[in-house]
Amino acid sequence: MTAPRLLVALLALLPAVATQEAALDATPLCPESVSIRGGTVSLSDGFRPGSILTYSCPDGSYPYPTQSRICQSDGKWTPMRSSGKSPLSQALCRKISCPPQRYFENGSFGPRRSLHPVGAVLSFECSDGYQLRGSSRRHCLSNGRWNGTSPVCDDGAGHCPSVAIPPGAIATGGRNRLGDRVSFQCQSGLDLVGSSQRVCTPEGEWSGAEPSCRAPYSYDRAEDVRAEFGASFTEVLSDVSSSGPDPSETTAAPSLGRRLILSKDSFLYVYFLVDASHSVTEPNFNISKQCLEVIITRIASFDVPIRFSVISYASRPKTIVDIQDDIAEDTEIVIEKIQNEMNYKDHGNATGTNIQDALDSVYQMMINEKLFTKVPWDKIRHAIILFTDGKSNMGGSPTKAVRSIEDFLNVRANRKDYLDIYAFGVGTVDVDWSAMNEIASKKPGERHAFKLNDLKELKAAFEDVLDPRDLHDICGLANNSESASWEQKNPWHVLLQYNTLTEASCRGALISKTWVLTSAHCFSKFNNTAGWTVILEKARGGTKLRIKRRIDHEFFNVKAKVAQGIQEFYDYDLSLLELEKPVQFGGRIRPICLPCTEGANRALKMKPGATCKDHELQLLSLEEVDAQFISLDNKRMGVQIKTRRSRPTCISAALQDKKMFSEGTDASEVVTDRFLCSGGGRAVEAATCKGESGGSLFVERRERLFQVGVISWGTYNPCEKKRKKKKDGETRETVRDPPPANHKPRDFYISLFGVQDWLRQHLGQSLRFIPKE
Ligand SMILES: *[C@@H]1O[C@H](CO)[C@@H](O)[C@H](O)[C@H]1NC(C)=O
Ligand SMILES: *[C@@H]1O[C@H](CO)[C@@H](O)[C@H](O)[C@H]1NC(C)=O
Ligand SMILES: *[C@@H]1O[C@H](CO)[C@@H](O)[C@H](O)[C@H]1NC(C)=O
Ligand SMILES: *[C@@H]1O[C@H](CO)[C@@H](O)[C@H](O)[C@H]1NC(C)=O
Ligand SMILES: *[C@@H]1O[C@H](CO)[C@@H](O)[C@H](O)[C@H]1NC(C)=O
Ligand SMILES: *[C@@H]1O[C@H](CO)[C@@H](O)[C@H](O)[C@H]1NC(C)=O
Repeated sequence: MTAPRLLVALLALLPAVATQEAALDATPLCPESVSIRGGTVSLSDGFRPGSILTYSCPDGSYPYPTQSRICQSDGKWTPMRSSGKSPLSQALCRKISCPPQRYFENGSFGPRRSLHPVGAVLSFECSDGYQLRGSSRRHCLSNGRWNGTSPVCDDGAGHCPSVAIPPGAIATGGRNRLGDRVSFQCQSGLDLVGSSQRVCTPEGEWSGAEPSCRAPYSYDRAEDVRAEFGASFTEVLSDVSSSGPDPSETTAAPSLGRRLILSKDSFLYVYFLVDASHSVTEPNFNISKQCLEVIITRIASFDVPIRFSVISYASRPKTIVDIQDDIAEDTEIVIEKIQNEMNYKDHGNATGTNIQDALDSVYQMMINEKLFTKVPWDKIRHAIILFTDGKSNMGGSPTKAVRSIEDFLNVRANRKDYLDIYAFGVGTVDVDWSAMNEIASKKPGERHAFKLNDLKELKAAFEDVLDPRDLHDICGLANNSESASWEQKNPWHVLLQYNTLTEASCRGALISKTWVLTSAHCFSKFNNTAGWTVILEKARGGTKLRIKRRIDHEFFNVKAKVAQGIQEFYDYDLSLLELEKPVQFGGRIRPICLPCTEGANRALKMKPGATCKDHELQLLSLEEVDAQFISLDNKRMGVQIKTRRSRPTCISAALQDKKMFSEGTDASEVVTDRFLCSGGGRAVEAATCKGESGGSLFVERRERLFQVGVISWGTYNPCEKKRKKKKDGETRETVRDPPPANHKPRDFYISLFGVQDWLRQHLGQSLRFIPKE
């Protein structure tokens, strides 16, 4: 079908070519014999010098040996570079394939082949004693990329997790001890994107960004940009916004609704660099302008204190909006200037690609801005977003300019978050993965270098990226400053009180604007939902919230096993409370991260594509996992969740209360797989009190908090005897009595990983869940 289409295209061009020839008879035209076997050809300007020829192939194949050629002034097409021996007279479409897995330590995989066709599946398994992180099955996608994330087998023994080795790469160097350095190399024909060297840092994580090996024809799809640029830039935005003060402490009207209210002292500066070199062509340049409008509008919807700068560049840069301009913070005027003052023709005949000079003008702007700005300079985060259609062909390597900017902003070590450089290579002419990678930032779990087939794809990606909803449920953030109030320290923690009682009898956790997660047994005695209130901000007098709806887990039934001699049985001890009105988030009211949601995935800095299983491994993979709960008097109490080999001993002590369980009861009948167990370990551990039920059991990772369980029951109540009143009458201090000498308390919590279906069923509308496996 492709040949006739080419013919029509050529015929359509003929009259134009003829007139041109008549007018400029001295200009030689390029030959018309440029077809591709199995594909189609398009020309930007017929067969005239300067015209760009682009080969296209059907989905799942790519043009070989080159994707585009330029008609040179001598009337010859740029030669088809071929790595093979004999030069090709005709281009052809070749099947796309995915690179093979070269290394996979402490496990096995298959099938082992040197190339995998689109649609192929690779499966991975770990040796005994090792756990698999990442995807156990990966599919070869039509863009030559394996989906999911690189799998790795880990025994948890290293200082850093075992490092993943991507398909197509080999790794050399140390493995996962502190200071170990691993170098990656891609097989020939593939470019490395990410960090070619990673170091195991004192924080227990690998420096830089996870590498991948990409073929020149392996373009990103709109959905890849959406997911990966989206995740990374959302981090930039949420870091700026997370330091914001409480809405309650500002005079801002509550009607701001979904917009975030930010502190006055954090700023985001975004610089756009737009390629206007010859090969971009004017129609494409116009699409770049639309891309800019889309993404600027998106970023501005977050209401972060922000300034924009816009530069177009070819051989030389042209500043459209300087970061210092007064209007740099006015989104509408910035967009107006892009529409009216940004022209392809401004670059005249100076049509090279000089990325170095373009970056250098950003650097100069920064220098000036630092001299004159009234904003504290070190509170400003900078993001540079560069579009190009090819590698720099003049002005020298852009790396030098990148280094100058990094040095000027002093983004070493603990200030890395203050600069993000994104490089978007767009088009088929001369875009090169390694050139994009050279410019782009490299951060763990994020990607900053992208390569797309055309600008329309980029525009489609931007239209969907950065949904402000993603920021609202920024979860698991607590203010750990000395002077912070306990609500600021535990902003998700709520109390549950029944109206005839004088104090709260249960606790719960805010997991979204409208949902509280607690335990079902709280309602056994007072089953009437309308009689209950959720109390937030207790120390400030308490905000009472009405409950619209309660959903108990349908399998919860305390009496389910009475016939088996188990007087009380707490499996599925969970309830969800839907609030009548959504709460407004701020420093004192925020949700905790619910594992297996997109919010938790970002907070864990895991790649898009990570699964619930990965979260479980990340949060509960140690033998003894340090976790906390919140006491009646609002203190954080430490426990250790016993997993794997430590779990059976922990559980066996569940039967200490002889009244509850008849002789010979099997502990696993009482404590099912859905329970987490703490207590009885070597470390000093707290035991939960009556009244703390329903509260969250949570772990801390990367300064964020993740709920892993809901407090259900325990073998010992340390708060049985006495409670002291402090003089001010306000705060009660609870005295926790040590257990009797012969009793080693155990506590049991419903694991959120064991009730995923139920959570997904009821919260699917409010939270975005990631795949289970
Ligand atoms: C795991 O793989 C590493 C690297 O190949 C090797 O040194 C180590 O012995 C393996 N561990 C086991 C238990 O096989
Ligand atoms: C990979 O793609 C396959 C087929 O589309 C899909 O079934 C699978 O869930 C994907 N895996 C991941 C980890 O995204
Ligand atoms: C943490 O709380 C303290 C005391 O209220 C406040 O000064 C500070 O701004 C808060 N920090 C953040 C990041 O919200
Ligand atoms: C690009 O946009 C400019 C200004 O809006 C317009 O004058 C020009 O005709 C457009 N060019 C193409 C090829 O669309
Ligand atoms: C561009 O090149 C043409 C032909 O070489 C020349 O006539 C014209 O003056 C040049 N324009 C600019 C802006 O340099
Ligand atoms: C509350 O009452 C309903 C209806 O009687 C019952 O089905 C449910 O199990 C009770 N819930 C609890 C937690 O006791």
